[in-house]
Amino acid sequence: MTIHTRMDDADRRNRLDDMAQGVLSTAMDRPDGPLKVSGRAPYAHEVQPEGMLHGVFVRAPRIGRVVSLDDAAARAMDGVETVVTDDRLLRNPAQGTANEAPVQGPREVFYVGQPIALVVARTFETARAAALSVGVEIADAERAPVAPQDYDSPDKKQSSQGDLDAAMRDAAVTVDRMYTTPAHSSAPMEPHAAIAEWDGDRLTLRGSLQMLKFNRNELADSLGIDPKNLRILSPYVGGGFGSKLGVAPEAVAAAIAAQETGRPVGVALSRQQVFEATMRRSETRQRVRLAADAEGRLTGIGHDAWVSNLPDESYSEPVTQATPFTYRGENRVIGHHVARVSRTCAGSVRAPGEAVGITVFEIAMDELAHAAGIDPVELRRRNIPDRDPTKDIPFSSNMLAQALDAGAAAFGWDDSRPAPGSRREGEWMIGQGMASAVRVNNLAEAKARVTLNPDGTALVETDMTDIGTGSYAILTQIAAEMLGLPPERVEVRLGDTDLPPGSGSGGSVGASSSGSAVFLACQGVRERLAEAMGVAETDLTLKDGQAIADNRSTPLGDVIDGPVEALGHIEPGKTSKAVRQATWGAYFAEVAVNSVTGETRVRQMHGTFAAGRILNAKTARSQCLGGMTFGIGMALTEELMHDARDGHVVNRDLAEYHIPVNADVPQITVELLMEERDPWTNPMQAKGIGELGICGAAAAIINAIHQATGVRVRDLPATLDKVMAGLED
Ligand code: MOS
Repeated sequence: MTIHTRMDDADRRNRLDDMAQGVLSTAMDRPDGPLKVSGRAPYAHEVQPEGMLHGVFVRAPRIGRVVSLDDAAARAMDGVETVVTDDRLLRNPAQGTANEAPVQGPREVFYVGQPIALVVARTFETARAAALSVGVEIADAERAPVAPQDYDSPDKKQSSQGDLDAAMRDAAVTVDRMYTTPAHSSAPMEPHAAIAEWDGDRLTLRGSLQMLKFNRNELADSLGIDPKNLRILSPYVGGGFGSKLGVAPEAVAAAIAAQETGRPVGVALSRQQVFEATMRRSETRQRVRLAADAEGRLTGIGHDAWVSNLPDESYSEPVTQATPFTYRGENRVIGHHVARVSRTCAGSVRAPGEAVGITVFEIAMDELAHAAGIDPVELRRRNIPDRDPTKDIPFSSNMLAQALDAGAAAFGWDDSRPAPGSRREGEWMIGQGMASAVRVNNLAEAKARVTLNPDGTALVETDMTDIGTGSYAILTQIAAEMLGLPPERVEVRLGDTDLPPGSGSGGSVGASSSGSAVFLACQGVRERLAEAMGVAETDLTLKDGQAIADNRSTPLGDVIDGPVEALGHIEPGKTSKAVRQATWGAYFAEVAVNSVTGETRVRQMHGTFAAGRILNAKTARSQCLGGMTFGIGMALTEELMHDARDGHVVNRDLAEYHIPVNADVPQITVELLMEERDPWTNPMQAKGIGELGICGAAAAIINAIHQATGVRVRDLPATLDKVMAGLED
């Protein structure tokens, strides 16, 4: 049996609250936790078949056209099996849910570090040494500049309503500023890796991937094989943050090499290769214009974004994604401009769009608060619209006001508006800052199978991934809640394309979309049980392995004599357009800035978040903690640098690319508004929370630096030199 639901209407049944088994929403530990901390949850490159060969990429030292590869020395090395130069090698990874082969062909080089061949040897060390010995001749060719220059058409997009220029002219208070954010790298803990093994014309690929149902089609298309002949396994993934949404060069190269050698081949990228040859977040330039009346009520908003990508990529960082609906202001211009560059592919990096768009916008809002002499929290409260002001549709729910109020109270927000630079502790200057959090909410199609056994155990199966986010825990909880089972009697199998296709992990859709499929499958199982008992499904109570109806309590084994299986299938429908769906929050930070060195220390940070029903209070909190930690990096240290001469990534490892370490991160507190339910989103009334915690977090710190010092940093990150320059002015 299949239970299929399209979200065409709000689902107000609220069944999970009615059941109240007390499993869902709790801070349940991850069932996979012990495996992870004891090293028994293997990553892609850790399950090595007998006789596996190792592939290491030869990469382009400069941009242009490959004229020749001199691999004679490499081939002569003891242990080298082959050098793969197949035209099916990928130039760039696939983007998002591409579902088809990305650009292929290694002859044209569009960025420094692009993989152009794969050396295959018996050991990794031999393959690496051989790869470095390959001589590469590259001729000049017409290419895009290595730094963004010309942003204009045909990629220019603009939407406008009302008359922003008039609003700016007539406003009591205005802000018109240019901001920049640098490129970022996902740098997931587990570097990208794949192991390919052929059995006749059937390929099994162990990969580190986020979206298996799409990845299967992308890989099959890249190789020119039928997706039916391809199985991808990604049961445990050590982070992705967008860089593993689509298949990347290592998967395709491993598959080709395994075919060519007739042996399993593994390709594990080095950290440097992850930085140079997977995905980066585009640098952005953003102009924000704000027009407000004397009470700080916005009458106009302008938000223009300039981003970059390779010439043949259609993806561009959706910087202004939340600008149309976050605040009021009837006159609005939103612009999006893309420059073509010869740099590593730009793609999704945690919360593409809002991560940098909301951050910059919230710095501009702080500037408006100061210009208008209004408390920054109050300024935001005054600008929460009743409806989506651009589309003129209602919000499914808007929790921004609640998040601002709860967050300010939890943090101990000082709304007395002390003058910037007025609080000192010796050489340290102290300030508080805040920002709103906003992220669009989406539902993705997903399927899952649930099997209930007469012994009171259940099996959940989908190709959904757990990239560290807690999918195993959340799906266990949903099934346990629906079937009245203790969580330890539910087994969840993920990360295998032989299983029903889930949503994959990306865009914060995973838990709510794949979870809804599990929810519906469980409903199907319940309907089968109810039928067997001759009652309506809604009159059936399942608890502790008993089926209870009509005051009868029957052991499951007496109701069913064999496994009962159902498939759940959720699809987005009309609710995705009928209402504006988003998640909400507020950040508060206190910083100390050293007046001698310009160094900023974050002393305290708090976030309050609302995302519909919270499915697991612990994993949801962890996502928010992670996002805010990213925010500290974005505010203070993270900056992917490209060489001005040839565009190569300069800081391509974690020694040079500075992410926050423990000493940089204070005790962060996270508050989840657990009571929210959003019936427009899916049958569980939950929303995605994965990426919410990074959407604006850095702004709270930048705004706190301003409060502490009077220095307004508009070019992120706020490194010492920028703060010092401001202090000296
Ligand atoms: Mo996310 S950056 O959509 O994995």
